[in-house]
Amino acid sequence: MQSKKMEKALNKQINEELFSSYLYLAMSAWFESRNLPGFAQWMKVQAGEENEHAMKIFNFIFERRGDVELEAIEKPQAAWKSPLDAFEAAFKHEQHISGCINDLMDLAISEKDHATQAFLQWFVNEQVEEEASADAIVQQLRMIGESKNALFMLDRALGQRQAD
Ligand code: FEO
Repeated sequence: MQSKKMEKALNKQINEELFSSYLYLAMSAWFESRNLPGFAQWMKVQAGEENEHAMKIFNFIFERRGDVELEAIEKPQAAWKSPLDAFEAAFKHEQHISGCINDLMDLAISEKDHATQAFLQWFVNEQVEEEASADAIVQQLRMIGESKNALFMLDRALGQRQAD
């Protein structure tokens, strides 16, 4: 059994992950509207991954005979100043999510909840990748600057991303 405090915190993380999915879907829609289908595809795949993160926690709560309570998902921002602005926001958001995961791990440790610690380790590792992949695109966009050609090439490359 899991403590109610831990269960509540995990439920909150389901909401964080679903909001992440919503945010990246909003970014995908914005990239579509800017005629950047590759960026839109990358964000759509990312939105799907975030949904999977939420479902991992959803399933874990039930495995431990807990209760899932879904809260309202906040409305995400709908427009950004530039592709760089959007990816900087995505990177910042991933840093926020890493902080949430660290807080969850701290709670699991303080509660001596070893099963939840083991479960959360996957998310700790995943966040390293999540931050690195957003940051890598931020760095590429900074290099590209105002070059339309380079943006077009990056759009083609990002469009290769497929769901796992
Ligand atoms: Fe589920 Fe991008 O963190």
